[in-house]
Amino acid sequence: MLWQRHNSSIPTNWPVIGAIAAVVFNVHRLLEYATDVLALTGGTFMLKGPWLAKMDMLLTSSPADIHYILSKNFRNYPKGDKFREIFDILGEGVSNIDGSIWKFHRRTLMHLLNHPSFLSLVKMIVWNKVEKGLLPVLDKFSTQGAEVDLQDIFQRFAFDIICESVFDYDAQSMSLDLPYIPCDKALSHAEEAIFCRHIMPEILWKLLRVLRIGSEKKLRDARKDIDQFVYKRIAEKEKDLCNMNYELKDEKFNFLTSLMREYSLLVYYLVAKNPIAEEKIREELVTQLNKEMGWKCNDLRAIELSNLVYLHGGLCEALRLYPAVPFQHNAPVQPDMLPSGYQVDRNTSLILCFYVMGRMESVWGKDCLKFKPERWFATGGGIEHQPSYKFHAFNAGPRTCLGKQMSFTQMKIVAATIIYHYHVELVKGHPILPSNSVILEIKNGLKVRLVPPNIPSSHVAFVILSVFTLGATDQTNISLALLVLLLSLQLSDSGVNSSTSLTSITSADTGV
Ligand code: HEM
Repeated sequence: MLWQRHNSSIPTNWPVIGAIAAVVFNVHRLLEYATDVLALTGGTFMLKGPWLAKMDMLLTSSPADIHYILSKNFRNYPKGDKFREIFDILGEGVSNIDGSIWKFHRRTLMHLLNHPSFLSLVKMIVWNKVEKGLLPVLDKFSTQGAEVDLQDIFQRFAFDIICESVFDYDAQSMSLDLPYIPCDKALSHAEEAIFCRHIMPEILWKLLRVLRIGSEKKLRDARKDIDQFVYKRIAEKEKDLCNMNYELKDEKFNFLTSLMREYSLLVYYLVAKNPIAEEKIREELVTQLNKEMGWKCNDLRAIELSNLVYLHGGLCEALRLYPAVPFQHNAPVQPDMLPSGYQVDRNTSLILCFYVMGRMESVWGKDCLKFKPERWFATGGGIEHQPSYKFHAFNAGPRTCLGKQMSFTQMKIVAATIIYHYHVELVKGHPILPSNSVILEIKNGLKVRLVPPNIPSSHVAFVILSVFTLGATDQTNISLALLVLLLSLQLSDSGVNSSTSLTSITSADTGV
């Protein structure tokens, strides 16, 4: 089902070596292992590292603890020096700093990221990239009946979007020949290497860093590629960026990794496994299209994205089960007692396990492992807001993600396009396993085939109804009606795979 499940037991914290043996034994499935252990221990567990390795970690998925750390007693739980050391690639970026400088950076970024013109600009860039990059590439694979790695496609797509929206630069990684882009791959390598710093004794990864070998060499090379790329773009745009009065270069990694989280890749895995949900999402799209444009049009830009409630629920489910940031790392400034009763002090690393929390029966009920977009429906229609102590995909409290609104817009545009145009078939036998990374990725990618979807019966019914209500009562008109019906079926089929079906956007549409 959802990743592979094994039986786990509570790890033993042995004298001298701590629980390192259990970690090494389960290194290929750490997220699943943490889920099993925390289910057995009521949501909190102190994992001891080897003696003198400074690796003791308190793992928690307890909603009360997480709410306390991120919101109620936020001041006592900054990112801290250890976080900054592990994530040194983030430099002085907003995710990596605390106190008054963090407040200043956050305020500046909030203003920029939530500015209506920036939001409309990003929306326009995304639609254009969908039309000129994503659909032609997917069409090519679909027409050839070839396998495609959706993870690779989304990383490229996201990379192009951020380059265009931040640097006004088209990286063209979504060209039909899918060129090798060093900076794009470097991001994944950096995320994996940073993960290694979490599970190795500090002294070991620091030694690797000095010797420039192993995961630290990978990180060093990745950093070089990222810096080279970003500094070149900044030099090209120096004048404009100076006007922003903001050290964009400090945000380089933060920006680039935020976008990697953006397309909730695993929603396609979940949808492929749940054909009924897939059908409902497609039906919702068709209903909204019919409402906006009548049966003649399959221009998805016409849809009001906020009306896509089923799709929104599906994306939330994907983020609940597979949060892009599967865990977070904090350290208390002052000794404290958590609601779960654990004493913590400056030397305790706190690991907030968001991945585990999304799968807890006590929080999400007996069907917690089920993909159920309906879970998010409000009784009176629309989407039910879930309190931040339950749903942490976008973090919570004063450090809540600043890109949430923008991300939903982008995720909806991309998911609506793919699900409307294709039925996603998982390649049989390709394992779907999480990689060890600070941003959730799938080891070896998400291999799928894209085939034309079934046309929802409601669409066919709508076409017949439209034609008959236009007055198709005599023999000629009935023939005409049948002709229109046949044509519309064909259009749905060919239009479905045609990138030209999306109209070009005007400046009036975007307001920019
Ligand atoms: C589905 C997409 C996204 C998800 C799931 C997500 C999730 C998160 C999470 C969990 C954090 C907290 C991480 C931490 O503190 O270590 C965070 C922080 C942040 N996110 Fe996002 N993010 C997404 C997209 C974006 C985008 C597109 C942007 C903007 C370009 C963005 C901007 C930020 C910023 C600036 C912070 C730092 C907030 C602070 O520390 O004050 N995010 N995001």
